[in-house]
Amino acid sequence: MYTVHNPISVWYCVALNLLYFCASSTYIDLPIEGMPAKEIKIHSVVACCNNGGIGFKGRLPWRLPKEMKYFKRITTGEVEDVKGRRNAVIIGRKTWESIPKSFKPLKDRINIVISRTLNKDCEGPDAVVNSLDELVDLLHSTPWCDKINQVYNIGGNEIYKLIHNSQYCGKIYLTRVLADFQCDTFLENLNDSFTKLPTEGFPEVPQGIQMDKNDLQWKVEVYEKNLLE
Ligand SMILES: NC(=O)c1ccc[n+]([C@@H]2O[C@H](COP(=O)([O-])OP(=O)(O)OC[C@H]3O[C@@H](n4cnc5c(N)ncnc54)[C@H](OP(=O)(O)O)[C@@H]3O)[C@@H](O)[C@H]2O)c1
Repeated sequence: MYTVHNPISVWYCVALNLLYFCASSTYIDLPIEGMPAKEIKIHSVVACCNNGGIGFKGRLPWRLPKEMKYFKRITTGEVEDVKGRRNAVIIGRKTWESIPKSFKPLKDRINIVISRTLNKDCEGPDAVVNSLDELVDLLHSTPWCDKINQVYNIGGNEIYKLIHNSQYCGKIYLTRVLADFQCDTFLENLNDSFTKLPTEGFPEVPQGIQMDKNDLQWKVEVYEKNLLE
């Protein structure tokens, strides 16, 4: 701080002190700009068969009505929570295009498609984003942050890879279809970076082996990404 006893220099002194104060504030404010964005977690819901396959010729390799009901239930959650918010589903452009017209947008969920080519104003999705950064910005921004409850990534493979390798990766709800199917799209291995959790802690998840159409069996496993040391 600058102090001056000569009364002629009082205004000069005031100006210098003001300058000092502003400079200190600026310095203190700097780290705020570098703070991490509010934490967002994006949970994945995915089904793979014995060989890790998730798709064939742009479609699901199997038809499992009971598993589809579970998928709908977990991604929708409460249709609206107490604050009137809904869950959002994040969908890769190819998976979006593979959904029959009569089923999209997915009901009672906010549909967000990720694509570098789709027109932002295209009919169908609630929003189109062109990168993960744009998705996170959108989730932080109004009105979306007031409208959205949980965020679920529903694939396909490119989007699973994108989210699982990011800081935003939340829980992974993995349905293991206990059968072999021909596939051309595969889920990246959930390696040592992920820990399998006991499903008993997740009442929203069917417990144990489930029987589905044509005697096909499946079970749900839940994983979470390990915290960085
Ligand atoms: N078993 C399951 O649980 C499950 C779930 C979902 C889907 N599937 C299957 O998976 C297959 C489709 O998967 P896929 O990996 O081929 O395609 P996808 O992940 O559905 O979509 C890929 C597209 O997403 C966009 N994209 C990817 N990364 C992006 C980024 N960083 N920023 C902006 N846009 C990005 C690009 O769209 P643009 O080309 O428009 O830029 C890209 O072509 C299908 O067979 C489907 O049935 C299976």
